[in-house]
Amino acid sequence: MKVLILGSNGRLGSALVRRWKALPDIEVVALTRADVDLADPEKAEAGLAAHEFGEGEVVVNCAAATDVDGCEKDREGAARINAESPGRIARLCAARGARLIHIGTDYVFDGSLDRPYTEEDEPKPLSHYGLTKLEGDREVLAASPAHCVVRVSWVFGPDKPSFVDAIVKRALTSPEAAAVHDKTSAPSYTEDMALWLAELLNPKVPGGIYHLCNSGTCSWRDYGEYALECAKKYGVPVLATSVAPLKLSDMKAFIAVRPPHTSLDTSKFTRITGLTPRPWQEAVDEYFTTWKQQ
Ligand SMILES: NC(=O)c1ccc[n+]([C@@H]2O[C@H](COP(=O)([O-])OP(=O)(O)OC[C@H]3O[C@@H](n4cnc5c(N)ncnc54)[C@H](OP(=O)(O)O)[C@@H]3O)[C@@H](O)[C@H]2O)c1
Repeated sequence: MKVLILGSNGRLGSALVRRWKALPDIEVVALTRADVDLADPEKAEAGLAAHEFGEGEVVVNCAAATDVDGCEKDREGAARINAESPGRIARLCAARGARLIHIGTDYVFDGSLDRPYTEEDEPKPLSHYGLTKLEGDREVLAASPAHCVVRVSWVFGPDKPSFVDAIVKRALTSPEAAAVHDKTSAPSYTEDMALWLAELLNPKVPGGIYHLCNSGTCSWRDYGEYALECAKKYGVPVLATSVAPLKLSDMKAFIAVRPPHTSLDTSKFTRITGLTPRPWQEAVDEYFTTWKQQ
């Protein structure tokens, strides 16, 4: 089976390419912006159409305009990359009988619920990033009932630095660390995502929306503090061990409005696949067993 991965230089895309190349019976085709530039929807469709794939095969779209504040500044560009191009790609996949697995985000929600969001909860994006990603989700789902939209949160992993790497890197030279305490969600470890998403390569798994992340809920501050604890445990010479609390409303450099509480309920994925995501703490701990400064 051929699996084409868009955004293969990104945090999640790189992990999928690396892990899935080792799977039997799968030919991984890693595609980058140079092959399929989502900023030009017509060319993006033609770029993907130039590759041979068809019935029963899979395209995974990990590419997106992920700079949340950047999407506020270039709204048209964000709409092309996050919504229009995914729509075209979804229709091309449907026409060829292939499944599209499209990666979505918790930022489609407004973060006002006091429980984890299910796939049935109504999205109400607060930012242009969230809005364009939601439009992308809808375009993908409208193109074929076999397509999947997988909403994830706080992606981290060894292929590209993220929040955990930034906080540990800073703690290598400073005894002080601080992070927002009144914004909660859950980290999604790319090594785990590679295992979970492989389940969706099976055509018997129904299409639709899936929420997927490590289990549990934490604030950026909890996440950062635990990352420092793990880093120290595995010999990374961090100078800071605690993280001071900041308020989301004090983050004056943020342009886009961030949703405060966006934990995702992953029970649909567990019900369908039998896999239960492990707690985020286990994933972060494992990450620091082999951590290298990126
Ligand atoms: N990161 C998070 O915390 C987070 C949270 C929730 C949801 N998500 C979603 O998860 C998915 C993967 O995120 P990630 O963390 O892996 O993001 P990432 O590291 O920023 O990767 C995004 C990829 O998209 C590619 N890309 C950007 N603009 C493009 C364009 N015009 N044409 C083609 N490719 C383009 C980038 O290519 P270059 O390498 O060439 O720049 C990069 O490879 C995205 O859909 C994102 O919305 C992420």
